[in-house]
Amino acid sequence: MTILQPLTSAVQTLPPNAHPLRRTPGLLALHAAARNREASHAEFVTAARRIMRLLLEESLAYLRYEDRLVTTPTGFPFPGTTLVQPELFAVSVPRAGDALEAELRDICPGTRFGKILIQRDTVTKLPRMFYQKLPEQIAGHQVLLLDPMMATAGTAGLAIQVLQDAGVAEEDVVLVNVLTCPSALEKLYERHPRVQVVTSYVDDTLTDEAFMRPGIGDFGDRFYGTTQ
Ligand code: PRP
Repeated sequence: MTILQPLTSAVQTLPPNAHPLRRTPGLLALHAAARNREASHAEFVTAARRIMRLLLEESLAYLRYEDRLVTTPTGFPFPGTTLVQPELFAVSVPRAGDALEAELRDICPGTRFGKILIQRDTVTKLPRMFYQKLPEQIAGHQVLLLDPMMATAGTAGLAIQVLQDAGVAEEDVVLVNVLTCPSALEKLYERHPRVQVVTSYVDDTLTDEAFMRPGIGDFGDRFYGTTQ
């Protein structure tokens, strides 16, 4: 059986702290299901949720851990790890980021959540800040920043700035991203070189209209069923 390699399988040179998921046939199947223009709303949501689950577990792995030795039911020691900061903090960028928030609530129910509402202007493509509400104790903590799409990186850059202003160190931000492209990563790392980015896929390029190619469409519209 031949697994077709997508155009995007060309070797990509990524910044050292950008972490794409491994392109297994299973991940490619989920991307094909979600990116297919013929996918129904339900099909898109199912595939997107499964991608987000994989992505969130991988993102959690980039937090800081320390050794933890436990004893198994059979009486043997198991040398594992546990989070250095057991209390989790996550900040979503509505609307699309709320889809990731819902999945994280299932996986890690005690997480403290914040919101940074930034919308990309449909004409200028520049980010506009509308609202922020962050957990009081967020300063000094590692934070999962939840936004599935990064195209021009304007939104992510502004959100990271808001977190830094609230006392979060740049190296303590883990951006949880479903889809991005090389130019967005380059732009983000020019401004925020120490941020960690965990992404499910790095697309080929950004079009002149600031859409990713091959792309997935408007994640928020497709996830929430706003458009047909
Ligand atoms: C989308 C997406 C990101 C942003 C990415 O949100 O969810 O937040 O655009 O674009 P950028 O990297 O070029 O800044 P949008 O503003 O369309 O809002 P939505 O979540 O309501 O769809």
